Amino acid sequence: MAGIVVRPGRQEDCRQLIGLRAALWPDCPLEEHRSEIEGQLSGAGPYPFPTVLLVAETEGGEVVGFLEADLRSHADGCDATCPVGYIEGWFVSEAYRRLGAGAKLVAAAEQWARGLGCVEMASDTWIANEPSIRAHLALGYDEVDRCVTFRKKL
Ligand SMILES: CC(C)(COP(=O)(O)OP(=O)(O)OC[C@H]1O[C@@H](n2cnc3c(N)ncnc32)[C@H](O)[C@@H]1OP(=O)(O)O)[C@@H](O)C(=O)NCCC(=O)NCCS
Repeated sequence: MAGIVVRPGRQEDCRQLIGLRAALWPDCPLEEHRSEIEGQLSGAGPYPFPTVLLVAETEGGEVVGFLEADLRSHADGCDATCPVGYIEGWFVSEAYRRLGAGAKLVAAAEQWARGLGCVEMASDTWIANEPSIRAHLALGYDEVDRCVTFRKKL
């Protein structure tokens, strides 16, 4: 999509990013979205590995998508001997979907990970999120596994 530019997120994107993040992760309180965005943008977040927050912006300056990626020490199906780029969050506003913005965000994240020496990129999505699964497959990602995760407080 010619009019959409992908660039690193900036402090002034925070308000719009909270809205997009809340649409992707509605169970997370708005204050938590704000502090996680600020942590990533300032580099002061509690993250052991490098992170990147990319945004997709229209010519008019509207932020209509974002992608958060980091490095993980390992990911299912990937070479366990070296860090892997990982897509932690990926979202495009409904009105701008199927126009190539999501692909541009992923390409920029892959370039970021490559620049840090990664040779693989990984991601995940909810088991019933068929559109996301199709989009991953369309962008060259292979499905590795399907699982249900659990937790127990100790
Ligand atoms: C997943 C998502 C980010 C894709 O964004 P997008 O801007 O629509 O993606 P693009 O238009 O760049 O499409 C990328 C590729 O995926 C394909 N694709 C995208 N949505 C698709 C769908 N619903 N069904 C089938 N293929 C799809 C496109 O055809 C394109 O493939 P192509 O390059 O071969 O044409 C967007 O649908 C979204 O925000 N979904 C809700 C949140 C979500 O599920 N996020 C991922 C889990 S964290």
